[in-house]
Amino acid sequence: MQEAHELLKKFYHHLLLNTKEGEQALDYLTNRGFTKEIIDKFEIGYSLDSWDFATKFLQKRGFRPELMERAGLLVKKEDTGSFFDRFRNRIMFPIWDHQGKTIAFSGRVLDKGQEPKYLNSPETIIFNKSKTLYNFHQARLDIRKHQQVVLFEGFADVISADSADVPNSIGTMGTSLTEEHVKIIRRNAESVIICYDSDNAGLDAALRASAMLARAGCYVRVATMPNGMDPDDYIKKYGAEKFKNDVIGASLTLMAFKMQSLRRGKNLQDEGERIRYIEDVIKEISSLENAVERDHYLRQLSSEFSISLDALKQQQLQYYKTERKKRDNFSSNRNNTKAKPALTKQHLLKAYQNAERFLIAYMLRDRDIANKVQDQLQAEFNIEEHRAIITYLYAFYEEGYEPDISTFLTRIHDDNLKRIVTDIAMMSVEEEVTDSVLSDYVKQVLNHKKMSMIKEKESEQVEAERSKDYLKAATIANEIIQMKKALH
Ligand code: UTP
Ligand code: MN
Repeated sequence: MQEAHELLKKFYHHLLLNTKEGEQALDYLTNRGFTKEIIDKFEIGYSLDSWDFATKFLQKRGFRPELMERAGLLVKKEDTGSFFDRFRNRIMFPIWDHQGKTIAFSGRVLDKGQEPKYLNSPETIIFNKSKTLYNFHQARLDIRKHQQVVLFEGFADVISADSADVPNSIGTMGTSLTEEHVKIIRRNAESVIICYDSDNAGLDAALRASAMLARAGCYVRVATMPNGMDPDDYIKKYGAEKFKNDVIGASLTLMAFKMQSLRRGKNLQDEGERIRYIEDVIKEISSLENAVERDHYLRQLSSEFSISLDALKQQQLQYYKTERKKRDNFSSNRNNTKAKPALTKQHLLKAYQNAERFLIAYMLRDRDIANKVQDQLQAEFNIEEHRAIITYLYAFYEEGYEPDISTFLTRIHDDNLKRIVTDIAMMSVEEEVTDSVLSDYVKQVLNHKKMSMIKEKESEQVEAERSKDYLKAATIANEIIQMKKALH
């Protein structure tokens, strides 16, 4: 099957460049700006206006028609059982696998209005559309080297972009991006610039593709063009330099692109629509993992619409909270099948854990509170990560910094700790906190420590009784009573 594709590809190429029959096709390509160089590099060809040229060509060389039908090159007539050429009178674009072997064709009509515009090989045992990325074999080296891919929707755009000196251009085959494509892209590059048509369908497809790529861990940007243009149109109209600088070079971060998409079809002069837009953007911001990024976009919104940053932050916390509640409900529902005692224990555990988190939340916002807690508790938190965080925090304040999450985060290098700090910083807490609330939290932290010491003593007591050392057991029992008294 591959051999047949190789042979036909060469013949189509020859027909395009060197024959009278190919002249019209060559004119079409030349008018579209395809140079000889491009035609050679992409091995473009022309299939004759004939029902049996390829059929005879292949048969003469010993390829069985049944096999060629399964390769997608021939079509079988239902009634007579005879074969005819799938591709007739079309400009032929070979499709390569990722090693550069020809495994399929796409044929474009010469005349406008004929359907389909591009006729593609069907899926065959050598051609899997959902795994094939056009031009991957030629782009791979550059992609690996720069760890970056520019992703297009169709191969006309890939060819244009490659000719405009964007050598890391690849494209899907007119189908939407699949998880298999995503895996291949992720394996070869860290970052992806999505460059789809800037019409509604293209922008929606870009949103879907960007979500898939981001989920796979790619760093995603989206390049957009003036309303309704496709990359090929743009390059033809404005040239390679402008495409590289103003489209690829000016690609948007995912969040900026989402903000732009949310604007689509909205009249922001209208107050109602403006508020809806701002709410939509805040929801998107809430889903960002990175606290610095969240802060950045909230500030951007704040300055663009002259809304107080505090108001936006409050709104965003609200979304974050409801989102988290949803998530928590989900996970606790799954745990509900467990026996009751486990739940109460979890509950107990939560009291001191929460107390520590609330304390840290206040300490992050207010250095006086941090000082107070330091006086009462030093770093005696029960959870190791919390101890580490407040140790950093004390040092941070001692060096004279004012409360500021972003700056504080830059001082912590452990990802896990960073995550916990971000999480705590996002907790919704009262603006004002009284001393008695604070000392309640402090008490819970201390009590937990004492409770675990009591538990330890209790097992010592059991141990002493078991070894019949009753005097020792009595002494321990006494100690436990004293410790329990101190709890209240
Ligand atoms: P477009 O309709 O945007 O075509 O389809 P294009 O790339 O701009 O092509 P030109 O400029 O008109 O020549 C985008 C991609 O969808 C696939 C092709 O891969 C095409 O590049 N497609 C489109 C098909 O497979 N079949 C079609 O009939 C049309
Ligand atoms: Mn086009």
